[in-house]
Amino acid sequence: MQSSIDQRFYQPADTFFPQNAPFGLTYDDVSLATQYSEVLPRAAVLETHLSDSVQLHIPIISSDMDTVTESTMAIAMANNGGIGLIHYNMPNKEQVREVARVKNNIHGLIQDPIKVSADQYIADVLDLIEAKGFKFSTFPVVDDKGTLLGLLPGRVVKNRYRGVKVVDAMTARQEVFTIKQKEIEGDPIAVADRFFNDHLGIHKLLVVNENDKLCGLFTLSDIEQIAEETRVHIKPTRDEQFRLLCGAAVAAPRKADGSIDKDAFVGHVGHLVDEGIDVIALSTAHGFTQGVGQSVRLLREQFPDLTLIAGNVTSAAGVEFLAKAGADAIKVGQGPGSICTTRIVAGVGIPQFTALYVASKEAAKHGVRIIADGGVTKSGDIVKALTLADSVICGGLLAGCPEAPGTIMEINGKLYKQYRGMGSLEAMAAGSAARYGHKKNDKQAKVAAEGIEALKEVSDSLDKVLVQLTGGIQSGMGYLGAKDLPTLKKNARYIRTTHAGQKESAPHDVIEVKTANDG
Ligand code: XMP
Repeated sequence: MQSSIDQRFYQPADTFFPQNAPFGLTYDDVSLATQYSEVLPRAAVLETHLSDSVQLHIPIISSDMDTVTESTMAIAMANNGGIGLIHYNMPNKEQVREVARVKNNIHGLIQDPIKVSADQYIADVLDLIEAKGFKFSTFPVVDDKGTLLGLLPGRVVKNRYRGVKVVDAMTARQEVFTIKQKEIEGDPIAVADRFFNDHLGIHKLLVVNENDKLCGLFTLSDIEQIAEETRVHIKPTRDEQFRLLCGAAVAAPRKADGSIDKDAFVGHVGHLVDEGIDVIALSTAHGFTQGVGQSVRLLREQFPDLTLIAGNVTSAAGVEFLAKAGADAIKVGQGPGSICTTRIVAGVGIPQFTALYVASKEAAKHGVRIIADGGVTKSGDIVKALTLADSVICGGLLAGCPEAPGTIMEINGKLYKQYRGMGSLEAMAAGSAARYGHKKNDKQAKVAAEGIEALKEVSDSLDKVLVQLTGGIQSGMGYLGAKDLPTLKKNARYIRTTHAGQKESAPHDVIEVKTANDG
């Protein structure tokens, strides 16, 4: 529903981008025009796909960087409907363990609950609570083989009972409510929810295996919190066995003669597949290369059904190359990242919005998906990216979350976390050199860093950050009358902004006392 004057100024992608050629544009160079809308933002659907088999409920992926995604971040991303890509700056075995942690995590089921032994005293338990700062005081009691002996209820973990032995204070095994591991397969949360409904006043449900070994613990408060989240439409991304989705980045190891060590490469990816990995990302700075092409072809041959992401590229020829090699989704972005210096060091890269347009045109011909990687600094950038891409990868936006790896440090009263480029010297020394075409231990090589080491202010939890981001995306969709992401692409109309326009877009001519995120 556009009048002819609208059509002249607010153009669809296929008019807008060619008309602006040969200039490369990025997010802030462009603004989106509003459209007639019957869409309430909160009703806008954010579902998208990485491949025909992998669906995400929100179009956001956490970056495979060693200061962004390990298992804690990947679990939180999947619980919020997205996916995390576990980085590869760690030994292969450790990466497999990290993936296993995500795949075996059941939100609401504490899989390795803190236990006590029957011959301890209540005094020991009180000391443990004090030392570890536990906020709970009910503990399963097990023998040294992990077999369940009873449950120590919080009401007896009191100073007045310090001298009492756990065995004399615990609820005996036969009176403890348990459920077999097998019975919670499928939908564990629903099973636990039903149990707590049927057992008034019971707050704990223990999970045991066939040999009565303790395998987990449900608490009523966790299950209630999940039920609350479900009501507000947060839908975790899961596989068909109800496990959280997880991705991992890999790089092909090389033999001394420079060729790909196929056995080692396929062997490692095979271990990840055995753990249930859903997505493998071949992450390199330059994906339009012989090496990345060979790696994608090899993995496609060996693992025909595995979802493969490959990149990074910024040209149609690069997209065609990786699509033909067998990638399902292509990462687009060379140099837009907040910690990237590729454009400065190498003089190479394409402003991200133009790169996305060029890549998306080619992707449509091959039926592959496009992922916008890097340079996203606000939810409005994500809306713009999603007019051309199927999902976005975020690094810097998530690096300040407590779920990101790394310690928190205090500087002048403010809290920060480390955030570094995978092409920074420090990260390359830790293992990511292959991503930038360098060897990790090659002291002779003149390695030019393509990333910096930086700090991010500690932010809210990932849940809260994602609420802000997805809320922003849905607002954008409401303005464009888009009930879902395919409609957002169809409805998008663009206009160039000038420097003055960019200034107008941000808060101006006021003294800011509260930012949008101050709550
Ligand atoms: P943001 O802007 O989200 O970008 O912080 C994250 C993305 O940047 C890429 N990346 C790098 N690019 N040098 C680069 O040129 C680097 O050291 C580097 N480290 C990460 C990567 O694609 C990531 O997802």
